[in-house]
Amino acid sequence: MKRIAVLTSGGDSPGMNAAIRAVVRAATYHDLGVYAVDRGYQGLIENRIRPMSARDVGGIINRGGTILRTARCKAFMETEGRAQAAANLKSHSIEGLVVIGGDGSYRGAQALDAEHGIRCIGLPGTIDNDIGGTDYTIGYDTALNIAVEAIDRIRDTAESHERLFFIEVMGRDSGYLSMMSGIAGGAEEILVPETPTDIPALVEKLQHDRRKGKRSSIIVVAEGDDAGRAIDVAHMVSETSEFKDPRVVVIGHLQRGGTPTAFDRILASRLGIRAVEALVQGETGKMVGIHGKSVVLHPLEEAWTNRTLFDPSLIQVAHVLAT
Ligand code: F6P
Repeated sequence: MKRIAVLTSGGDSPGMNAAIRAVVRAATYHDLGVYAVDRGYQGLIENRIRPMSARDVGGIINRGGTILRTARCKAFMETEGRAQAAANLKSHSIEGLVVIGGDGSYRGAQALDAEHGIRCIGLPGTIDNDIGGTDYTIGYDTALNIAVEAIDRIRDTAESHERLFFIEVMGRDSGYLSMMSGIAGGAEEILVPETPTDIPALVEKLQHDRRKGKRSSIIVVAEGDDAGRAIDVAHMVSETSEFKDPRVVVIGHLQRGGTPTAFDRILASRLGIRAVEALVQGETGKMVGIHGKSVVLHPLEEAWTNRTLFDPSLIQVAHVLAT
């Protein structure tokens, strides 16, 4: 292994830059040539591949987003797209690739390895924290803190006006971020795709809370909840109850930007170094994760066969706290 490349793929997440920095610096430390691919798999197909030095990644550990930019690339799902990508990598004599992204990005990496012998290692980069094989994904902690800060701010105005708010938190396939931000933000109810949402029961709870003396209520709605988006849930509640004037806030992409927390920077740095070590050791088809305090390697498919769901006991935690 003489040359490796790094790319970011799928939705960006805070800490991806810290991971890129760690990969570039670890590769330099191990005397490997290191290349950056701009715009994820799309850039790989378009041969947007350029050499990087340790100095090129100075001053980025504290920056959100990804300096390499990212894309969701349909062409890479086709065999022709992957063949072109592999040919481009081989034209630069690049034998190993570090893919920073979610499980969809890992599936692409696995196919590139199986079809063209490019050694691939995955780093979990997504705010959703829904990837198996790791306790935490890079970006989750930052996004969680942003969501909680947003809930705190809304609580101030909700209490002042004695209002009902619906706050939509990201996660089209996963309620993990919503569940944790709802617990940390003291939400009265947290609606997630993993459990069926019962609108009449929600209305009954809100009415019960008011009878108990609660003057305001915050309902966190995961983007992918089975009852719909926060605006839909708000409509259903207002149409079937005396809560005629609820407010809806979609935190949206605010959760994906901004300065990564120290936790995300350290996680990204540790995992990035391990990814390069894995390539040096001849590993392929693996993802790097954190379990407890240890950095671990798992097969890439662990990401989707063993997806991280929140512990169902947390539903009870949220329920008890909202009494
Ligand atoms: O997977 C990360 C994520 O931010 C999800 O939480 C969200 O559902 C999705 O990406 C949004 O994607 P886009 O940026 O393409 O709108």
